[in-house]
Amino acid sequence: MEPLVIETRELTKKFNKFTAVKELNLKVPQGALYGFLGPNGAGKSTTIRMLLGLIKPTTGTIHLFNQDLSIHRLNILSKVGSIVETPSYYEHLTAYENLEITRKILQLPPNEIEKALDIVKLTQWKRQKVKEFSLGMKQRLGIAQALMGNRELLILDEPTNGLDPAGVKEIRELIMSLPEIMNATVLISSHILSEIELMADHVGIIHQGKLLFQGTMAELKTKGRDEVVVKASPLGQAAAFLRNKGYDVTIREGKLYLPGRNINMEILNRELVLSGYGVSHLSEKLGNLEDIFLQLTGEVA
Ligand SMILES: Nc1ncnc2c1ncn2[C@@H]1O[C@H](COP(=O)(O)OP(=O)(O)O)[C@@H](O)[C@H]1O
Ligand SMILES: [Mg+2]
Repeated sequence: MEPLVIETRELTKKFNKFTAVKELNLKVPQGALYGFLGPNGAGKSTTIRMLLGLIKPTTGTIHLFNQDLSIHRLNILSKVGSIVETPSYYEHLTAYENLEITRKILQLPPNEIEKALDIVKLTQWKRQKVKEFSLGMKQRLGIAQALMGNRELLILDEPTNGLDPAGVKEIRELIMSLPEIMNATVLISSHILSEIELMADHVGIIHQGKLLFQGTMAELKTKGRDEVVVKASPLGQAAAFLRNKGYDVTIREGKLYLPGRNINMEILNRELVLSGYGVSHLSEKLGNLEDIFLQLTGEVA
């Protein structure tokens, strides 16, 4: 087990009588790309603001890098880069000039700017004024700003919000490259399951301030699985074979679909192959966020 970079214990935030975050025990292992997933109003930004020391918890504790945030605040936060909501820039200055300001504030060596520009692929546009940037480019600049100074932990609050599909893909690929390039741990929040599914290796699902699930993406897939998809040949015979074994099978568009969560994919694969069927594809499809919530909250069997 990797050491934990973020560990909260019973973290709670109340706004008057309203509890926005309730007894959260977040565990983010070192090197993880942790997707913090939940619908609008779930408590993601409130949690993130507490992790960044921007607001104080009502009760509970936060440890980052095994240190108590309420005691070692400045030392801890010097290792954390973040984007909370849309980053703000000096629009009339260039990308380079904006990063120069950040560099001076953080007292970093000059080469940090080029390094950051290179990671977010803005080198080519560094002399362009930010007001001429697309939203996606601005967001990349925000990430550049967040990662300057060898940050060990990056916390990005809905970094793809408002971007078009091409922009979302760009930011997604950038974020996925960060753990390796920077040797950093990344926590990213989102209300879009498919986005987290594509990026994250660890997931925390928050709903009405409560953590409903925390674990690896693989664990979530087993739990939130909708169906297993199999491409086998000959298709019709494979379907009949599986039905005979007690599986519920439907055929759609040249594939077999097996609903349910209790299917062991390894065993399924072995049964087919050992009986002489060709298996060219085996995957599991995750239900949508709504299905997973319903399942996790136990409202639906
Ligand atoms: N400063 C505040 N005062 C009162 N209520 C707040 C405040 N900040 C957030 N909330 C409420 O807390 C809940 C969680 O908000 P938020 O953390 O922003 O959710 P998310 O980021 O998941 O969309 C929402 O119901 C929101 O209205
Ligand atoms: Mg939010």
